[in-house]
Amino acid sequence: MLDIAEDGRTWLLTGPTSSYALHLTGADELLHLHWGPRIALADAEALARDPLPGYWPFESPLDGREEYPVEGGPRFVRPALSVRTEERRGTEWRFVSYDTGREGGDDELRLRFDDDGIAITLHHRMRGDVVERWVSVDNGGHARVELLRADAATWTLPDREGWRLSQLHGRWAAESRLTTVPLTYGEKVIGSRRGHTGHQHLPWVALDTDAAEERGEVYACALGWSGSWRIAVAQLPDARVQITGGAGYDDSGLLLLQPGESYTTPVFAGLWSDGGFGGASRAWHAYQRAYVVPDAERDRPVLFNSWEATNFDISEEQQLALARRAAAIGVELFVVDDGWFGARTADRAGLGDWTPNPDRFPHGLKPLADQVHGLGMRFGIWVEPEMVNPDSDLYRAHPDWVQYQPGRRRTELRNQLVLNLAREDVREYLWEQLDTLLSGAPVDYVKWDFNRCFTDAGWPGEPYPQRLWVDHVRGLYALLDRLRAAHPGVAFESCSGGGGRIDLGVLSRTDQVWTSDNTDPLDRLAIQHGFSQLHPARVMAAWVTDSPNTQLNGRVSSLRFRFVSAMAGVLGVGGDLTEWSDEDLAEARRWVDLYKEIRPVVQHGELYRLRPPAGGLSAVQYVRGAQTVVLAWLQAQRYGEPAPALRLRGLDPAASYACRETGQVHRGAVLLHHGLRTGLTGDLDATVLRLQRVG
Ligand code: GLA
Repeated sequence: MLDIAEDGRTWLLTGPTSSYALHLTGADELLHLHWGPRIALADAEALARDPLPGYWPFESPLDGREEYPVEGGPRFVRPALSVRTEERRGTEWRFVSYDTGREGGDDELRLRFDDDGIAITLHHRMRGDVVERWVSVDNGGHARVELLRADAATWTLPDREGWRLSQLHGRWAAESRLTTVPLTYGEKVIGSRRGHTGHQHLPWVALDTDAAEERGEVYACALGWSGSWRIAVAQLPDARVQITGGAGYDDSGLLLLQPGESYTTPVFAGLWSDGGFGGASRAWHAYQRAYVVPDAERDRPVLFNSWEATNFDISEEQQLALARRAAAIGVELFVVDDGWFGARTADRAGLGDWTPNPDRFPHGLKPLADQVHGLGMRFGIWVEPEMVNPDSDLYRAHPDWVQYQPGRRRTELRNQLVLNLAREDVREYLWEQLDTLLSGAPVDYVKWDFNRCFTDAGWPGEPYPQRLWVDHVRGLYALLDRLRAAHPGVAFESCSGGGGRIDLGVLSRTDQVWTSDNTDPLDRLAIQHGFSQLHPARVMAAWVTDSPNTQLNGRVSSLRFRFVSAMAGVLGVGGDLTEWSDEDLAEARRWVDLYKEIRPVVQHGELYRLRPPAGGLSAVQYVRGAQTVVLAWLQAQRYGEPAPALRLRGLDPAASYACRETGQVHRGAVLLHHGLRTGLTGDLDATVLRLQRVG
């Protein structure tokens, strides 16, 4: 819902539980009024009547109150917009007009400003309780307009004391770990200067003063951009907090707009919830399922991925042997990982040559794909299109297609260089290669990887090489969009050495993401706990691999523990099935069958995090209609004490619930207030409990 005051200068966006209001003063200062519980237009108008304090030589009344602080004038906060023309730097805008739109039930507000021929439009759209914000800048006539910085939005929080900042940090194999600290005066800046979203931070922050998992106010923001990015959280001197974020890490230059050119920022989405961190997560999940993730209402299949089983040492016969076993345990999608193409027998060669390796697949991929289909499974492959090994036909033919600085060493990481996707010829080459690949064999699934960061982001001959940072991502998006349109039956997974490219932007054009290369089932609980703050189980790929764990730590764990850990997301299997005993395979079949039964609840239900993974018992619960699923893990039992009962959530206290595992019927009020016993004991124990409402 969008309400507008009579003078056309106060706007109020309202979702199911929250409101968002802004106001334009007579001097064209755009002020943020409100973000929080629902209010009426009269409340927003009352807030708008509050006069700004006067100007002091050392303090600006605008700081901490503006909806989108630009560079220039009496402002000392970090500007969201920084523009340079031939004549000057900074922005002094004049309000032009506003208009509103209504698409598919969403209210959108567009506020148009002009600064001497530079048009700036601020977009606000309410989707559920998520406010989507973005900005477009058009060069209407200057010889050159350099965008040094153009953030998607600045969020302003109400005056409160004791703000805390939560973030999801990490590194390779240790992504999305949740940490919460008090916010102190000054700025906290997170982001990526790596060319991709990065393993180091998910582009998400949450702020609260006294929230808990299921109660209290939480403000959270998430960016939809898959390249370098920056979010700065500022605790200003007067208890105000502003969060500004967008594409690009620093202010050294984003794009150069020629006359007539424009730039549209990615979306920076924000959400207020008074349901604690759990309520905020459920609202994020609902938003992504409804508006971001393609075909989110469809179940994701159980997949097998060959990477941990075979690494680069692959052949048609061996893949087929794995496929037979995968089919026998109930796998629905068989994915051949790295090593099937070009001269790719190790990570030294082949990237860039997207044709099947003639020694390994003498008749191409089709025979294997057909046999996989014959086994009743879908067929998927791994690609890493944005990269090239110097030892490849592509690089030998086009050494200038990579990002490089003239006269400098080309930094190789994992023996590979980054292609310059800002170039149209590169994008066209990739389109042809990938389109041919998807047309030449019945491929149903593509795992799209990105295994190194940008280092030498140069573009010899290009007058404004900095644009490569933005245009690479636009090129990636354009390629994915084109491939999806041409091959609508193909699903895509975003991978970047695990979780190095997970954000709302990539999720709007992929079906799921590879959460982490860390497949240790215990480490995964913490990674998944962080991931679930923002993203739903429906996109969170998780594999059961071998024990002892081969990738990271040699940890020994039962098949039960590994399966229950991976069943919290989109279940996959990634172990060497040719080494699994008949008993293991039979047990795996039972787990896969159980997963298929609970899948609709896990993938589409409401998530409640019952206990965080902190050493003892942890658990999550999914609720969908009359069905509830609890997954619980006991890391280590101490002092012989029984694991505590799990107080469930989201149930009807007046109803009864039958547990399929125990046959017991529980009263809702008892489950909510006193809890459910799991019976877990010892180390690394786990269980699945299914409850059905029975009256
Ligand atoms: C990355 C991925 C892995 C695997 C390898 C293949 O590290 O995250 O899952 O695909 O590349 O080289």
